[in-house]
Amino acid sequence: MTSSMNAPLLEVHDIRKIFVDRDYQTPVLKGVNFTLQRGEMVAMLGPSGSGKSTLLSILGTLMRPSSGSFRMLGRELTTLAEKELSDFRNQQIGFIFQYHHLLPDFTALENVMFPHAGRLWRETRAGRERAAMLLERVGLKDRMNYRATRLSGGQKQRVAIARALMNQPALVLADEPTGNLDRENADQAFGLMSEIQRETGTTFLLSTHDRELAERCERRIYIQGGVVVDQPQVVPGRSSLRVIAGDPLSVIDRTQPANAGGDRQRA
Ligand SMILES: Nc1ncnc2c1ncn2[C@@H]1O[C@H](COP(=O)(O)OP(=O)(O)O)[C@@H](O)[C@H]1O
Ligand SMILES: [Mg+2]
Repeated sequence: MTSSMNAPLLEVHDIRKIFVDRDYQTPVLKGVNFTLQRGEMVAMLGPSGSGKSTLLSILGTLMRPSSGSFRMLGRELTTLAEKELSDFRNQQIGFIFQYHHLLPDFTALENVMFPHAGRLWRETRAGRERAAMLLERVGLKDRMNYRATRLSGGQKQRVAIARALMNQPALVLADEPTGNLDRENADQAFGLMSEIQRETGTTFLLSTHDRELAERCERRIYIQGGVVVDQPQVVPGRSSLRVIAGDPLSVIDRTQPANAGGDRQRA
């Protein structure tokens, strides 16, 4: 226990993932290494299909890697059995997805309380009070008893933020959490996450295509070619790096002459 107190929040070592179908093997992650310190807010960038969601699923222990290992709070997670893993996940990891994934027929309050399913204080007064406190924190005090279907997109995502925090996780993994929101709601949701990160010391790892929000994080990592790099490399003439318009890396591509890689296909 004591040794874990000083360990980084997350140490990722040589994670690989190959999806195997009947006829295909798709290598997606090819040796991912990085470390998250406690309390950091880190943005993960990379083209569509580069493996951001795959990596977040693996780190969230929702999917096993093909090989490699990672430690969270000093605990090796890749070798944990399913039951221990789900206990660890419930207690230490919160998730926010691009599409809120709220249960439509339940109220905001009930949705926030759901991460408690299977835990002792489910449906307890303490659980209800914590859920109410979190909804108040995300500015939805007056919407607590609204069913999810009655909330706007921005409000739903704020409920999802509250839900992710319900069990006081050490790490929140957010997969394009603002990807489905307009500018104003994206700014608001992001602002909320960074305030909560500062207030509580919760570590956030969030994937995003939003350069502006990524710049507001303390640190950025990039997935490129199946590995994590601190700075994206632009290899002149490599068409695989010439990515779809609007992708974060295309910002970097603008430093190239306009006619570089002129053989690329345009949408
Ligand atoms: N279950 C799966 N089976 C086969 N291939 C998959 C599966 N999930 C994802 N992939 C492939 O892995 C690659 C990375 O996907 P993903 O992690 O969703 O990327 P990103 O989130 O960066 O857009 C894509 O080529 C995708 O098609
Ligand atoms: Mg994705």
